[in-house]
Amino acid sequence: MTTMSDARPRVFVAGHRGMVGSAIVRALAARGDVELVLRTHRELDLTEQRDVRHFFATERISQVYLAAARVGGIHANNVYPAEFIQQNLTIAANVIHEAWRGGVEQLLFLGSSCIYPKFASQPIQESALLTGALEPTNAPYAIAKIAGMMMCDSYNRQYGVDYRSVMPTNLYGPGDNYHPENSHVIPALIRRIHEARLADAPEVAVWGSGAPMREFLHADDLAHACLHVMDLPQASYRAHTQGAGFLNVGSGEEVSIRQLALLIARVVGYRGNIAFDPTRPDGTPRKMLDCGLINATGWQPQVSLESGLRSTYQEALSSGRLSVEPEALATPT
Ligand SMILES: NC(=O)c1ccc[n+]([C@@H]2O[C@H](COP(=O)([O-])OP(=O)(O)OC[C@H]3O[C@@H](n4cnc5c(N)ncnc54)[C@H](OP(=O)(O)O)[C@@H]3O)[C@@H](O)[C@H]2O)c1
Repeated sequence: MTTMSDARPRVFVAGHRGMVGSAIVRALAARGDVELVLRTHRELDLTEQRDVRHFFATERISQVYLAAARVGGIHANNVYPAEFIQQNLTIAANVIHEAWRGGVEQLLFLGSSCIYPKFASQPIQESALLTGALEPTNAPYAIAKIAGMMMCDSYNRQYGVDYRSVMPTNLYGPGDNYHPENSHVIPALIRRIHEARLADAPEVAVWGSGAPMREFLHADDLAHACLHVMDLPQASYRAHTQGAGFLNVGSGEEVSIRQLALLIARVVGYRGNIAFDPTRPDGTPRKMLDCGLINATGWQPQVSLESGLRSTYQEALSSGRLSVEPEALATPT
């Protein structure tokens, strides 16, 4: 509840029930120096421009973290490309434009590492943006993310506001999505290996050779990076982006899918065999962000992959995102 004496900045975290938005809310609440303004998807549909305009016209917001988006793995991007581009473009356009109209001084746009060309050289620097063709599967989503970042950059140049962007690597953490078809690699593997343990299955099959190298960042590390980036003096942020208009955020910790699956099996307590199926496609052999620019501002990740996976698994069990009842299993492994 706002009071006359409450002079703390009013901060809107869009998408606060999602994995990233909830981590940003935890980090801001722990700091305690802002007044959080939160709306569920049902209370404020960010694809509805009229409602978004009314929100910013009446709520006196001074800072926005834009973590609302239509998000999903390869399968979801493949099956719902129209929804991915339409919803993500519209959310970005509505929130950034109406925030500007409503006098919001600072905004942080959450992009994604999928904005980079499919064959970008590794580790990927910010300067690789728009230097080659995108991965076709998630191009609609990536185009919407590039457009959001470009909007921030353009509003800064034309209107003199301070709208920033970060491009995180693959994320995981509390609040992740464990949907059997629409989830990312870590929750998908946790779910399958957890279900194999409950069913006492002798083996879990993992698609591909297990050789691709990937980078993962815990959502709490990303949240702290977001607050850190927002806190940078404007001149320092601009200087550190070196003209790119955004900063990569990654862990710098690379693992193969094989190592990841074995680590998850250890965390879950699964003692059966993890079998890799090299007849299935592997995807790109390596995907890793170069985080030299954000590291040079003084930010470093704090959560190791193993401890992050342990707390993520515990949260999935305690929150009921993963069933602990063997008879409730939807898909036998
Ligand atoms: N997850 C990753 O691995 C990853 C990696 C890189 C970047 N990112 C970026 O991080 C951001 C957040 O991702 P996330 O993983 O936290 O996703 P998430 O868990 O799916 O959360 C997204 C949130 O946005 C809300 N939302 C979606 N459409 C909305 C709308 N029209 N109006 C209002 N709210 C809406 C969702 O509410 P409902 O659930 O009610 O629809 C949900 O609370 C995204 O921009 C994403 O691109 C994520």
